[in-house]
Amino acid sequence: TVLALWAVIGYMLGSIPFGLLLTRAFGIGNLRSIGSGNIGATNVLRTGNKKAAALTLLLDGGKGAAAVLLARYFAGEDAAQIAALLAFLGHCFPFWIEFKGGKGVATFLGIMLALVWPVGALCCATWLAAVAVTRISSLGALVAAALSAPYMWLLGRTEALALTLLLTVVIYWRHSTNLARLRAGTEPKVGKKT
Ligand code: G3P
Repeated sequence: TVLALWAVIGYMLGSIPFGLLLTRAFGIGNLRSIGSGNIGATNVLRTGNKKAAALTLLLDGGKGAAAVLLARYFAGEDAAQIAALLAFLGHCFPFWIEFKGGKGVATFLGIMLALVWPVGALCCATWLAAVAVTRISSLGALVAAALSAPYMWLLGRTEALALTLLLTVVIYWRHSTNLARLRAGTEPKVGKKT
């Protein structure tokens, strides 16, 4: 029952759609009709508002980290993993907006930082470096996600390996349209509207 409680708290935290809330609060348009239509920071950036995009990244990451840290503090490591999984799923499938959520990248990075910070730091660095080189947000995310489990394994954190692999699989699944565009060579560069 303690684990179920942290599952619910994790889901609630994860399901807060900060991208939608912030673009509404800033009055900068309807995310669903911009770019990919996604609720994540990458798509918020396509509105041209860098502040709203940065805040979306921080808050979507922060809610994942908060779920892990709160669960760990009050109920231990198993609860932290459950809260991590449900926060991630909450972001991807939020009840409030007909389960049409995001692709999980910022929330994944926040979760990794809170769960095993050296792996989180490596994932963030990989994501930033890959986006800096390719200028494609989704590609950076896919590279960072693919390396997250190897990083976990290399650092000997096998207790978090299954969760990391599961989140990676969901990230790839959520990026299926991005993967198709990447293959077709039509995936936009960061900040470009289409
Ligand atoms: O964080 C999601 C990112 O990897 C791709 O976003 O809007 O380009 O589909 P988007």
